[in-house]
Amino acid sequence: MIELLISNCGELHTLEGPDRARKGKEMKDTGCIENGAIAVDDGLIIDVGNTEKLSERYDAKEVVDATGKTVIPGFVDPHTHLAFAGSREDELVMKIQGKTYMEILKAGGGILRTVKMTREASKLQLKSEMKKRMDTMLSYGTTTAEAKSGYGLDLENELKCLEAIREMSQEHHLDLVPTYLGAHSLPPEFEDTGDYIDHCCEEVLPIIAEKKLAEFCDVFCEKGVFDSEESRKLLTKAAELGMKIRVHADEIKNIGCSKMAAEIGAVSCEHLVKSSQEDIDAMSESGVIGILLPGTPFMLMHSEYSPARRMMEAGMALALATDLNPNCWTESIQMIITLACLQMKMHPHEALTASTINAAKAINRNDIGMLTKGKNADIVILDIPNLQHLPYHFGVNLVDKVYKNGKCVVSDGSITQEG
Ligand code: NIG
Ligand code: FE
Repeated sequence: MIELLISNCGELHTLEGPDRARKGKEMKDTGCIENGAIAVDDGLIIDVGNTEKLSERYDAKEVVDATGKTVIPGFVDPHTHLAFAGSREDELVMKIQGKTYMEILKAGGGILRTVKMTREASKLQLKSEMKKRMDTMLSYGTTTAEAKSGYGLDLENELKCLEAIREMSQEHHLDLVPTYLGAHSLPPEFEDTGDYIDHCCEEVLPIIAEKKLAEFCDVFCEKGVFDSEESRKLLTKAAELGMKIRVHADEIKNIGCSKMAAEIGAVSCEHLVKSSQEDIDAMSESGVIGILLPGTPFMLMHSEYSPARRMMEAGMALALATDLNPNCWTESIQMIITLACLQMKMHPHEALTASTINAAKAINRNDIGMLTKGKNADIVILDIPNLQHLPYHFGVNLVDKVYKNGKCVVSDGSITQEG
């Protein structure tokens, strides 16, 4: 007797295919089975196929009927700034009045304001703010997410943020993959970006590596923040200490960050609004996964989005993420998929690949992102008859049920059991 059989799925998108990030044209194939079923035991998927065959083959303790519904792997959100305290809703009004992101940042708003609030928060308070967001993410179908530090900046507060991420990952059903983003902004106690990068390399990174608090190192490589050579120095040091690397690149100005990231073997490059064709070709060649964050230009009120179609034509593998942060506050990958389809002309099937298997590979996870034998039973049942409804019916939660490691953790859109 097996634990669970999900049967009669209107559309079952398995993402079956090569066990790696899907590139360019491959992204359109989501391995869809009509009237499909999934057999689950011991937290893992043991079989996938046609409902008739699987119903004959297995006796299950629980049978869930997914008639008329669309079943997909749990969403993976590969770029979030989850560990922050407070909020900055007043900056939205400044943006409406015409102030740019960089103007707000230079006037002491933006990242540094959140740094102040995050430094003032205790770890307990920070964790309780994170928990609220994680509950929403899970109820919107995200079962694994990357989480960056970067609002502490000094050693003590970066450690506090990374510990909060580690503890919340253990205490919550949503799994978190930690990234050190100490180079998110120049902290107020430093005057020179070069000095701060040296400090991160010599005083901070070795401690984080020793405590195993981060799997990835990231940097906000941007004009007026950290330049490409400073970023290269920090990331090279992180790689020497055994961390994988990812980069915020080509977001507002192109200062050569994605090209640098491709040269040094970054797993992913993120944002990529201003990437040139030459950058796209370099990323495609080196196998960098492009993580696109359409929520960010949307909340910055910019009209330019990442050139997703050109990237796929060049053979890049793309992922999508929320960028959840106080400037772009959404927990919903569903909303991001709507923006990706409408603003970047991604096809709903490409967007699903970008939010599941490709997102999983972008955070170096091999046990999720596909509904095939041996993978974790992280499964979302959407209350929609086909995948096209996912970008189409927008701004609401389409989730019916979420399974994490084979356990039902969300039903009718609400969390059924605490982590
Ligand atoms: O990815 N670009 C840098 N960091 C964030 C914004 C952080 C903030 O405004 O607090 C981002 O968009
Ligand atoms: Fe970001």
